[in-house]
Amino acid sequence: MISIIGSGRVGSSIAFLCASNALDDVLLINRNKDKAIGESLDITNAIPQTSEFSIHGTDDFSKLTDSDIVVIAASTGIYSKDRSENMVSQINMIKDIAEKIKRYCPSTVVLVVSNPLDVLTYFFQKESGFSRFKVIGIASSLDSSRFRYLISEKLSIPNSSILDALVLGEHGDSMVPIFSKVRVNGTSLSSMLDDDEKSVISNKVKNYWLELRKFKSRSQFGIAKNTFDVIEAIVNKKELSFPASVVLDGEYGQSNVAMGVPVRINGHGLFEIEQIELDESETEQLANSSKKIQNQINSVLS
Ligand SMILES: NC(=O)c1ccc[n+]([C@@H]2O[C@H](COP(=O)([O-])OP(=O)(O)OC[C@H]3O[C@@H](n4cnc5c(N)ncnc54)[C@H](OP(=O)(O)O)[C@@H]3O)[C@@H](O)[C@H]2O)c1
Repeated sequence: MISIIGSGRVGSSIAFLCASNALDDVLLINRNKDKAIGESLDITNAIPQTSEFSIHGTDDFSKLTDSDIVVIAASTGIYSKDRSENMVSQINMIKDIAEKIKRYCPSTVVLVVSNPLDVLTYFFQKESGFSRFKVIGIASSLDSSRFRYLISEKLSIPNSSILDALVLGEHGDSMVPIFSKVRVNGTSLSSMLDDDEKSVISNKVKNYWLELRKFKSRSQFGIAKNTFDVIEAIVNKKELSFPASVVLDGEYGQSNVAMGVPVRINGHGLFEIEQIELDESETEQLANSSKKIQNQINSVLS
């Protein structure tokens, strides 16, 4: 069973993808129970006739018992300038959710989607005591999709011509687009763009959410599809490589912090953090990004 905590825009979109693709049974949990029931009544009509699975809405966390995967997409408020605006209330929320997941489904794989993503991934893992490989923060793959899109726009080429467009580090202002690894039709992107052009793309990736909000109140479908891809790989026991936030223990020279790094998953969840070679500037930016997340974590711990 796939359980999704938070039935707002993001949670319900993930539920829609899981149910309409007949992945597994889906449970929607929301603070306001009626919202979870309403979304599940709507989404149930999108389940294919051939599917044996169903979707239900509730506010009862004890129903989590049979969860193989739990997605956390709950939010206590909307941020407007920075993803860390509601950090304290979000941390309190995730600690409470961690305690419930630990009680009702201690063997589940947890996908954290709520913001501030890296800080919440860290606090969930520490609070639950789950193996750090069972707690995966989903955001860097979304940032990487944005990076790929912006490169394709700049070069007027299709998305499909671009490989290895990765964004690592924080899901926030200090995120690090990794230009040195990007290949365009087999050629290194680094030789196609000058430093100014790279800087423009970097800023656009970081501020993509602000640009989007000029036209739509909040992002929804991009993160839903990126999360669905991870769920699908776990349910169908496929291997998948993508960047995600995970608590680090020495990888990339960082410990006691969660941030976006390249990972590999299979049917059991995450099984490897890939150590890729970065250039000097990228290594420094990643260390700075880690420092920023650590400072946020420490500001709450102190
Ligand atoms: N990782 C990424 O790249 C990414 C991208 C987009 C968004 N996000 C994040 O995803 C989260 C959800 O965004 P959204 O647009 O879907 O927000 P939303 O529409 O406001 O929905 C949030 C939902 O969470 C519910 N909720 C709050 N506390 C809860 C709790 N303790 N238990 C169960 N449900 C609870 C709310 O219930 P009520 O109905 O009772 O208020 C609401 O339905 C946010 O933190 C957002 O920043 C992340």
